[in-house]
Order: sequence, then C-alpha cells, then structure tokens
Amino acid sequence: MKTLTQSNLTAAALARLRHAPDARMKEIMSALIRHAHGFVREVELNPQEWKAGIDFLTAVGRITDDRRQEFILLSDTLGISAMVDLVTHTREAARATDSSLLGPFYREGAPERPLGASIAGDTPGESIIVRGRVTDPRGRALAGATVDVWQAAPSGKYDIQDPSQPDMNLRGRFRTDAQGRYEFRSVKPRSYPVPDDGPVGVLLRAQGRHPYRPAHIHFIISADGYRQLITALYIAGDSYIDSDAVFGAKQSLTVGYRKSRGAGANGAGPDALEFDFALAPVTGEPRARPRRARAGAARARRRPVRRRMRSA
Ligand code: BEZ
Ligand code: FE
Repeated sequence: MKTLTQSNLTAAALARLRHAPDARMKEIMSALIRHAHGFVREVELNPQEWKAGIDFLTAVGRITDDRRQEFILLSDTLGISAMVDLVTHTREAARATDSSLLGPFYREGAPERPLGASIAGDTPGESIIVRGRVTDPRGRALAGATVDVWQAAPSGKYDIQDPSQPDMNLRGRFRTDAQGRYEFRSVKPRSYPVPDDGPVGVLLRAQGRHPYRPAHIHFIISADGYRQLITALYIAGDSYIDSDAVFGAKQSLTVGYRKSRGAGANGAGPDALEFDFALAPVTGEPRARPRRARAGAARARRRPVRRRMRSA
C-alpha cells in the first residue's frame, strides 16, 4: 500500500475519477480537487479552520429555503457568479450588450404594460423615463421584443421584501414597437444592501466589506431568433459603482441621467435614462469555454504541484 503524502494525495484522488462515465463531470471534479488541495496546502489550513468552514457552509444551507438562497448570495459575493457570466458570454459572436447578474429578486409573470406606462404606481421617489431601442448587433430594430424590467424602490427594497409595496410593484413587461423602441416610467433607484443578516453577511463583515449594490434596474430582453439577454443598467455616479458587493456592475452598462423635455417648469420633464440593447443572434452560440480559459487550464494541469501552489 502506498503511503499518502502532501505531494501524492492529489494524484491519488484524481486517479479515483478514472471510471467517471461523463467526461465533463470528470473534468470539473478533477479541477475542483486540484484547486481545493492546492488551497489547503497554500494556506496550511488547520483543523479548527477547516471546521469553521464546514460550520459556515452548514449555516448557509440551514438558512436557505425556497424564499432565500444563501448559496447563490455566497457565490455572488465571492465573484463566482460574475465569473461564470464572463466566461459564458464572450462577446466574440456579436456586438451584443453585456450581460449582468439575474439576482434573487426576479419574478416571472410581471404585468404586461403599454409602452410609456409607469411601473412605479404610487411609490414615493423622483420620477424618471427609461427608454431606448432593442436592436440586432448591426443596429437593426427588433420589433415585438419583450423587455421585462424590475427594480427596488428608492427605499432599497423589492416588492417581495416589503409588505408595504403592492404585489408586482416596480415590475413590468413591455413590447418594443416597429422601430424597436421601448419606454416606461419609474422612480430613481438607489443603492441597497444585499441580504446581510445571515452567514454571508457575517463573512462580508469578517472581510471588512460592505454589502451594497449600486443603484440599478434589471432587464431580461427576449426576441425570437436572438439569445435572451439578462442584464441591468447601473446609474453613473453612484457611490458603490466601483465596489458592487456582487461584482455585477460594468462600465458598458453604466448610464447617466439626461434632462428630458416635458410639462414641468421651463418645459423640463423627468430625468431620462436612455440605453439601446443589442441582442446576439442564436446562430452565434457562445463557445461554452473560451479558448484562453482552456489553455490556462491545460497549462495548470501541466505545471508541477509546487508552482501551482504559489500562483493559485
Ligand atoms: C440584486 O441585484 O438585487 C442582487 C444580485 C445579487 C445578489 C443579491 C442581490
Ligand atoms: Fe437588484
């Protein structure tokens, strides 16, 4: 029997995967074992720290139910969800709009509303107009595209977190017109904290991190023959734009308010947020795994254990 040591245990664990029936599963589990072993070696994890990690994950599991998904929040705050998004949505296929995190507050079945309608009802706050076009990557209008939007109230709460808001408040589905235009009214969103009253909040504080997301409005845009776009618009100038707790904000999705014309004093209207979304055609499916990531993974596999440990 072979004596297991720090330098041969990883190879022994990897060898147990040799009969894995699914090649992709085998690849994922191999990488997980290599990285997890490398992590333990790098930080020289002691048994108390290992137990603290297990207790933490147990607490994450205990607080998770069909209303609260603490594992996704953990993934979000560690930047894992954003990394999955980045490796999946390469922009090589088309000049499509960048995607961003779905987040936990999306609800299916938002009310269909006519173009120009408000999603805000009586929500207190500063009125805005949100408008733009949905196009293909060449800027050609996509008529009849669905624009599904949702946002938190200026209080920082979504309808499902706040019993004082009507059901489906600040949510709506719109259809673009013949020129691909969408338009709706709302109230200015504000930055708000992700749920931080559970184990993920404890972890954020232990890292000296704040739980805030910059002000944003979420969108899911769908059109026949095009890849569905899950994204969000982030408000320029927000104090948390460069330190989003879940790494969702992107420069390309950051928009400033513009003055609009209307019936107010001096012909002023509500501030407008204007943004055009470009959808990628389904024919240009993203490569499941970008070439650079594959090459990196192959290099990591070839590197000896000691070098992997230092660069992990
Ligand atoms: C949000 O946008 O509401 C959100 C996204 C990720 C984690 C928590 C909240
Ligand atoms: Fe959100």
